[in-house]
Amino acid sequence: MPPKPEPLAPHPDLSDYYARSEERSAFVRDIFDETAPWYEWMIAIPSFGTGFRYRSDALARHGWRAGVRLLDLATGTGVVARAALESTGGKGNVIGVDPSLGMLLEARNGPMRDRLVEATGTALPFRDGSFDMISVGFAMRHFGDLRAAFEEMRRVLVPGGTLLVLEITPPRSRIARGALGLYMGKIVPLLTRLRTGSPEAARLMRYYWDTTLHCVPPEVILGALADAGFQAPRRDVELAVFSEYNARA
Ligand SMILES: C[S@@+](CC[C@H](N)C(=O)[O-])C[C@H]1O[C@@H](n2cnc3c(N)ncnc32)[C@H](O)[C@@H]1O
Repeated sequence: MPPKPEPLAPHPDLSDYYARSEERSAFVRDIFDETAPWYEWMIAIPSFGTGFRYRSDALARHGWRAGVRLLDLATGTGVVARAALESTGGKGNVIGVDPSLGMLLEARNGPMRDRLVEATGTALPFRDGSFDMISVGFAMRHFGDLRAAFEEMRRVLVPGGTLLVLEITPPRSRIARGALGLYMGKIVPLLTRLRTGSPEAARLMRYYWDTTLHCVPPEVILGALADAGFQAPRRDVELAVFSEYNARA
């Protein structure tokens, strides 16, 4: 048997947040658990309240419609899943998965109440070919091993099913990257702290920008999708920074 490839981390270790690689997943789970009550307030700050509309439009652009069985992986408080359900008048076939109990408890307050499962992206408790589409909203950078996570997603998709990964990619221009970094890395955490009173919520927003800035480039993500057996992986870009990765199982 060929040797197993090394894990493909989406970003290097970030020592401002955890000391060793092995501590990364516990750090991520704990910070989402602790900040879950403020999550939807927090994401409204950088997106000026447009995040729900953006997610809804992105789903439609990539083939979401009534009748499609959708797994919203890393669902968090269920923003992508709710956008999907709303566009089908609540009749969509949507399951949300997340490893953070805190986030899932928040999601339980909404229409995803009975459609939530606690799991990580690399160990999905579903049979092969259970879904027609998988969405991953602004969470890929938290997976420990991109290839392993993409392989698991391909397993639970039907052949020909669609994977849609939404991420933010820093702009190429140094000036634009510097300006966005000032806003996302400094101003947004400050506003988050003022609005929520939670130092952890402000820390999560700083982490959000640091993981965005240090994330592997789009070519590596497209390569990992192909390595995991996905067909025709491609990246569409909206508003210069929103990457929409699309691939067929
Ligand atoms: C920034 S939130 C995104 C929530 C939602 N998808 C959205 O669009 O707002 C990231 C989510 O990824 C989840 N997450 C972190 N590591 C994960 C993993 N290994 N597998 C699945 N989900 C993970 C976190 O618990 C958190 O809820």
